[in-house]
Amino acid sequence: MRKIVIAGNWKMYKNQAESLKFVQEFKSEIEDTAEEREIILCAPFTSLTVMSKNLHGSRVKLGAQNVHWELEGAYTGEISGEMLTEIGVDYVVIGHSERRQYFGETDETVNLRLKAAQKYKLKPILCVGETKEQRDAGETENIIINQLKKGLLEIDQSNLIIAYEPIWAIGTGDTCKSTEANRVIGVIRQQLDNKDISIQYGGSVKPGNIDEIMAQPEIDGALVGGASLEAANFARIVKYQ
Ligand code: 13P
Repeated sequence: MRKIVIAGNWKMYKNQAESLKFVQEFKSEIEDTAEEREIILCAPFTSLTVMSKNLHGSRVKLGAQNVHWELEGAYTGEISGEMLTEIGVDYVVIGHSERRQYFGETDETVNLRLKAAQKYKLKPILCVGETKEQRDAGETENIIINQLKKGLLEIDQSNLIIAYEPIWAIGTGDTCKSTEANRVIGVIRQQLDNKDISIQYGGSVKPGNIDEIMAQPEIDGALVGGASLEAANFARIVKYQ
């Protein structure tokens, strides 16, 4: 059974106080959300501990935005899976296009991080997607199939979420047409051994377009950036109709 998963990716936004304020407001906003929807907040590392305490007993799960492949070691600036699970983190975003673009993330390091996430019992959200140039050159499918092939090498497909995030649609307001997102997500599903993996769409998801996006048969959820930073907005997205 494919599960509906709506995740907010806060990127490098919100200090502890701002995160706590969001959580307090958001928890009451989403009380009446349909039971079967998984709701996740992927916050900066510095907010995770206080959020974990304040989300305890609620249905909102916590995610991080990166994880290293070693348990510990001389890896300045990195974080281990065990450090995240210790404080109550259940999910982790891996291979986001911003990490690939600005921090040298490759399909090979994505693969190592995915393996580590699963080893330390974190559920990874693997991001894939093409640039505008690649799309215009007709390379969308090839790029994504290649990202999946290399990223998912020897990965257990029973503990995994995938997010299709066309890079040209991220933070631009230029949402991918829902039918096109549905088509590409169908292509992604064809590549997978486990057809029950939840596949999200991400890229300028907003309260105004979530209903249409979620009406598409292949789309199992959303990975939301900017519109997840405000509690009422993100609550509306989580409560899509
Ligand atoms: P926006 O929703 O701000 O376009 O960001 C999407 C994203 O990158 C989520 O990971």
